[in-house]
Amino acid sequence: MSSIIKSPRGMNDVLPPDSAKWLYFENACRSLFERFGYLEVRTPVVEATELFARGIGEATDIVEKEMYTFPDRKERSLTMRPEMTAGCARAYIEHAIYKREPVTRWFYTGPMFRYERMQTGRYRQFYQVGVEAFGAAEPSVDAEQIAMCYALYSQLGVADLDVVVNSVGTGDDRQRYREALVTFLAPHREELCEDCRRRVDTNPLRVLDCKVPSCKLLVVDAPSILESLGETSRAHFDAVRRHLDGFEIPHRVDPRVVRGLDYYTATVFEILGASDNLGSQSTLVGGGRYDNLLERLGGPATPAVGFALGIERAILSLPGAPEEYLHGPLAYLAAHGAAARERALAIAQRLRVAGLRIEVEHRDVGLKAQFKRADKLGARYVVTLGDDELAAGEVKIRDMNRRQETAVKLRDLEGALKQRAHG
Ligand code: HAM
Repeated sequence: MSSIIKSPRGMNDVLPPDSAKWLYFENACRSLFERFGYLEVRTPVVEATELFARGIGEATDIVEKEMYTFPDRKERSLTMRPEMTAGCARAYIEHAIYKREPVTRWFYTGPMFRYERMQTGRYRQFYQVGVEAFGAAEPSVDAEQIAMCYALYSQLGVADLDVVVNSVGTGDDRQRYREALVTFLAPHREELCEDCRRRVDTNPLRVLDCKVPSCKLLVVDAPSILESLGETSRAHFDAVRRHLDGFEIPHRVDPRVVRGLDYYTATVFEILGASDNLGSQSTLVGGGRYDNLLERLGGPATPAVGFALGIERAILSLPGAPEEYLHGPLAYLAAHGAAARERALAIAQRLRVAGLRIEVEHRDVGLKAQFKRADKLGARYVVTLGDDELAAGEVKIRDMNRRQETAVKLRDLEGALKQRAHG
């Protein structure tokens, strides 16, 4: 026998019944985000490498070491998207959406790719749902997005959410902070990991989100970025917090949350989950404002804010087992006898085309086995067809919960099932 082929490391199959939980979650996102005025956008999975280098920042972990980059057949450098914000900004500029409307609100869902060290909740192909709002500079938009995301997890029964907010200010604020941080880090250079020693010179803010324990310990005493904020940034941050209070969203401030992407300005936020299933990857959501990104990508100056959440982590936090999210067929057609089975197949075809979810047995198995299968699939009704019943133009509908049986004329079956589907 030849050897089996496995999926690439860190890239997973989503199989039933788990896929039912995914659909449930994605539908909840869609339904909620649309209520807030976000419309779906779909962009390519692959983009020009330069988009991410310029958008996310050359000196970030993602761009330095996590991208799946390859030359196409014409030697153009392409990259499997590690995130969607840069792609959305590119599409917004390319299609000159700013000429059509003052504020644009998009949401998306799809696979992202990062060459990361695999662990529970961290994969190389993972799925995000995210939103981006272009054109609005108001702090109420930042707060509204946080509140929307909080509502999503709350309504799905995910308990103990920890909403963490911070501000990384304007470019000038960050420059001031960078200097303060480098002054703090310089005497401790030897205690930093090799990457962070380099980061002190290239991108000192990235030291704050280093995962190495010695670096984490060191930055506990680092100066707070909030002390470097100018008046405008301070006022924006205060307003975001005031709106969060208005929306009744419990939250806390953590000046060390600076996020791993370079495009952020002003507000940044994360929502952490408490489920043990998450392992060490408790960040469910990450987002923030990126008022300079569009200009950096050659577009007009446009304020923007957004967030993305990891679907795998959301699934790990959802209460209940995957089977509970699986909905069985409305009816299972159980046939008794060869002629009845042929008729059952034709009836199933008609009912399915008429819009009903019907299961039918193709194999030659007895009634008892068919009832067992109907039960396993969670069918609400079993319709029994025997040769005798068919000769009389009648079938029996059995309610699997109430354990009651009703005889109906075959010609009335569609109506009877539709009535039960809506009842
Ligand atoms: P991010 O923090 O890199 O932000 O990712 C957002 C979320 O995606 C994380 O909180 C996590 O739930 C999930 N995630 C990230 N990496 C992985 C991974 N390797 N495996 C599983 N899940 C993962 C962004 O991507 C920004 N584009 C968010 C944003 C949108 N900011 C503004 N607009």
